[in-house]
This record gives sequence, C-alpha cells and structure tokens, in this order.
Amino acid sequence: MAARTTRTAAEFVPDTADIAVLADAAHGCKGCDLYLDATQVVFGGGAARADMMLVGEQPGDQEDKAGEPFVGPAGRVLDKALDEAGVDRDGLYVTNAVKHFKFTLPERGTRRIHKTPSRTEVVACRPWLLAELEAVRPDVLVLMGATAAQSLLGSTFRLTQHRGEVLRLPESDADLGIDPSVVVSAHPSSVLRGRPEDREEAFQALVSDLRFAAGRRTR
Ligand code: URA
Ligand code: SF4
Repeated sequence: MAARTTRTAAEFVPDTADIAVLADAAHGCKGCDLYLDATQVVFGGGAARADMMLVGEQPGDQEDKAGEPFVGPAGRVLDKALDEAGVDRDGLYVTNAVKHFKFTLPERGTRRIHKTPSRTEVVACRPWLLAELEAVRPDVLVLMGATAAQSLLGSTFRLTQHRGEVLRLPESDADLGIDPSVVVSAHPSSVLRGRPEDREEAFQALVSDLRFAAGRRTR
C-alpha cells in the first residue's frame, strides 16, 4: 500500500527560537487548506520570553482582519478575566492552536461564522505551537478550551475532568527541552455562548482558572 503523506506545517517552520522570524515565516504556511480563505495568518503575540503562555483555539473574525490574537469579543472577555485575576496581559505570550480563521458564509448576509477546526487541521498546525513553546519557554502554559488542550494533551483529553489540576506535557514532547506547569481552563468564548443567566458563573470560573495558573508562576 502506498504511504500517504499527511500535510502539516512542519516544512514551513524555520529552525529558530526567534519568535519574530517564526511569525514572519507563518505568513507563507500552506500546511493545511485554511490559509486559502482566511485574510491572513494570526500568529501569537506578546512578550517573547513570557513566563506564562495562553493558548486559545483559532483566530475569530476580528482577529483575522487585525492579524492579532484575542482582539475581538473573546479577547475582551479574556482581558476582563485577566484583569480580575490580577494578571497583566503585557507580561504574557498569547496564541492559538490553529493560526488561520476557519469559517462558513451563511446563505444570506456576509457575517462570517466561526467553525471549529478539525483534528487534521489542529494536528497540521501544531508544529507552529511547538515552535512557539520552544522559543518562549514559559514556566506556565494555560490551554484555554478543548481544542488547545487536545492539541497538546491528546484527542481523548477531557477538559472538564482536569480543571484545577497542574498537568505536564506528554513524554513525546520531551525534546522541546521544557517542562512547564500545564493548566487547562474554559475558553473565553464559552462565556459568551452560555445562557445569559449562566454567564457570570462561567466568567468567574475562567477568572479562577487564570488565577490558579498565575499562582504557578515562579519568576
Ligand atoms: N478565539 C480564540 O480562540 N482565539 C482568538 O484569537 C480569538 C477568539
Ligand atoms: Fe498553516 Fe496552521 Fe494556517 Fe493550516 S492553519 S495553513 S497549518 S498556519
């Protein structure tokens, strides 16, 4: 049987720990088909040597236009939650598991609707996330939502069963040469998606997850 080659971002990722060089190279990525319809790649941003790194799912509509992560509605929830947790976003590195916006166009209207990336796309984009981890070398890694958690902890990982725990990256990532404290949290968008009467509780859970993660910082 002929071996099937799986497309990933690997061949587009330069061998460097310089985050600016990585970000620049990501503009040329064709590791999966998501680059075809998106406006631009949205690479991570923030402090290049942050001790704490946050990972979301993928850029949304506004991030796709701005070219920066977490600047739309989910970004506003995140900013508010960080503020309440007493964490300064300027000291963090913030990125996503998938670097291009995936969406569908409704039959009527032009508002682009977010679509959850497939497992194949998450796996295809993982080399960028690993390169960011290797460059930034955080002590604390916060995986926000199931997509980020499953990208690094495996497709069967269940977020809700591990909130409030300190986890480690799998053995298979040992060659990264880092061993951050890994904490999972709800995704900021899930606060917006819930019923209005549930939002405050969901928001407070996110704040408490972020506070718990920040408590693992050692620098
Ligand atoms: N949701 C994400 O997961 N990431 C963003 O950058 C924006 C919204
Ligand atoms: Fe490359 Fe990731 Fe964009 Fe796919 S989503 S084209 S793997 S950067």
